[in-house]
Order: sequence, then C-alpha cells, then structure tokens
Amino acid sequence: MITLAAASQKGGVAKTTTNLAIGAKLTQDGARVLYVDLDPQMNLSTTLKAACAGVPSSLEVLTGQATIAEAAQVIDGYAVVPASRLNGKADDLMPSVGKDYRLRKALAAVAGDYDYAILDTPPALGTLTVNALTAASWVVIPAQADAYSLDGVTDLAATIEAIREYTNPDLKIAGILLTRYNPRTSISRVIHEDAEAMAAELDTKVFRAWIREATVIKEAQAVKQSLFDYAPSAKVAYDYRFFIDELMGEVNG
Ligand SMILES: Nc1ncnc2c1ncn2[C@@H]1O[C@H](COP(=O)(O)OP(=O)(O)OP(=O)(O)O)[C@@H](O)[C@H]1O
Ligand SMILES: [Mg+2]
Repeated sequence: MITLAAASQKGGVAKTTTNLAIGAKLTQDGARVLYVDLDPQMNLSTTLKAACAGVPSSLEVLTGQATIAEAAQVIDGYAVVPASRLNGKADDLMPSVGKDYRLRKALAAVAGDYDYAILDTPPALGTLTVNALTAASWVVIPAQADAYSLDGVTDLAATIEAIREYTNPDLKIAGILLTRYNPRTSISRVIHEDAEAMAAELDTKVFRAWIREATVIKEAQAVKQSLFDYAPSAKVAYDYRFFIDELMGEVNG
C-alpha cells in the first residue's frame, strides 16, 4: 500500500480537491483506494458521500476505539474513513504514548487490503497532520497560485524535517503543485519563481503540471461527483490527469 498525503497549513489551497482527484483517478484505473479524512471540517467525507453521524470516524481510529476496517465505509468502488467534527480535540483525547504513530499503526493493519491510502489533513501542523505525515510515504504540497504562495513554507519545511528526524525518516516530498493557477495573469511568472524557491528550500521540485482555476471544480463538489465523472473533458480535468500521471510516475517509478 502506498500512502499519500496532501499537506499545507494554509487553508483553501486545494488539498482536499487534489486528494479527491487522485483518489477518483486511481479508482477509475482499477486501484483499491482508501481515503482517510482527518480534517474536522469533513469536506472530503461529505463530498465522498460518507455517513458521518453515529459511525466510527478517524477520531475513534486515533483514540484506539475503532480499527480502520471497522470505520471504513465502502462507497462507489472506494473506501473512506470519515472525519468527525470533534477531530480538533484529538490531541486531548488520544492516549499520550505513541500519539504520533496512531494512524500509521492503524493503517499497517490494512496494508494488504488497499493499493493506495489517501490522507486528507486540516490546514494546521498539529497532531492530525503529524499523524498523517508519520503514516505517509509521500507528501504532495499544493500551493495556491497567489501572491502569498510562499507564506508558511518555512514552518512546513521545519515540520517535515522534524517528521523525518523523529517519526518517519522515509517520508518523501513528491513536489509542489500549483493550484488555482491562471497563466494569463501578470503575476504568474513571479508565482512560478516563488514556487521554485519554495521547492529548493524543501529539496523537492515543482510539478510540471499545474491546475487552473475553474468553476467546474466547485460544481462537481456541490453535486458530490468526481471531477472526471462530472466534467471529463473540462480543461481542468486534463490538468489533474496530467498531474496524477506525473505523480504516479514518481511514486511507482
Ligand atoms: N482549481 C480550482 N478552481 C476553482 N476552485 C477551486 C479549485 N481548486 C479548489 N477550488 C475550490 O477552492 C476551495 C478550497 O479548496 P479545498 O477545499 O480543496 O482546499 P483545502 O486546502 O482542502 O482547504 P482547507 O485548508 O480548508 O482544508 C473549495 O471551495 C474548492 O472547491
Ligand atoms: Mg481540505
């Protein structure tokens, strides 16, 4: 099982959108995909049509009250462990020993059941993201293509460095993905340069693929369909396919 996480402490940079696209494409291609939503906002769970009330969530997985096998819901050919609104309290609710390793250990038990695990994290560098990065083999860093795309990269770099030192020496950064990009704007070249500088700091690369700003992204999420089902020939669907091919070349190559 290959475990992928999208991480950034910046909100709204398309972490969840990117995870949804990766999972949808891999499922379409016949892979066995498990999504795990860690974010108390529950955007991934909701969009994937997971039941969220009265069911075990990633919170119970982290606190040891449920296994992944018990919490995973099978929907439309994929499996999803939903988040809980209370995930923000996970840090207080988890037993203190082995806190950072809870998800990693839980995922190890289902490693033979799935080809890919896709972890969705909140826009913060706390326990939930540390659990995801400790469990992940690869992290993708989405960066919204705006004037502040470099903000916070130092904190993220420090977190990744600490993860490699203390909990997951094998964590690899797949690259930085420019999202919500509009190549027609005059700042686009500056943004690309910023992203290259950010990549150098993290010792990684900027993906050749970038994702354009497009309303079909929001429309597909509003009707809870995958981008590739909702608008298979939209340009942004090509952007995501191109990105996922590039990512998979790296991950499986
Ligand atoms: N390429 C795009 N074009 C237009 N809208 C987009 C695009 N990508 C994402 N969005 C929209 O931007 C918003 C934020 O995206 P998303 O929820 O994926 O970000 P996030 O990083 O997961 O946010 P959070 O940090 O809150 O979890 C959503 O409303 C989403 O539909
Ligand atoms: Mg999100």
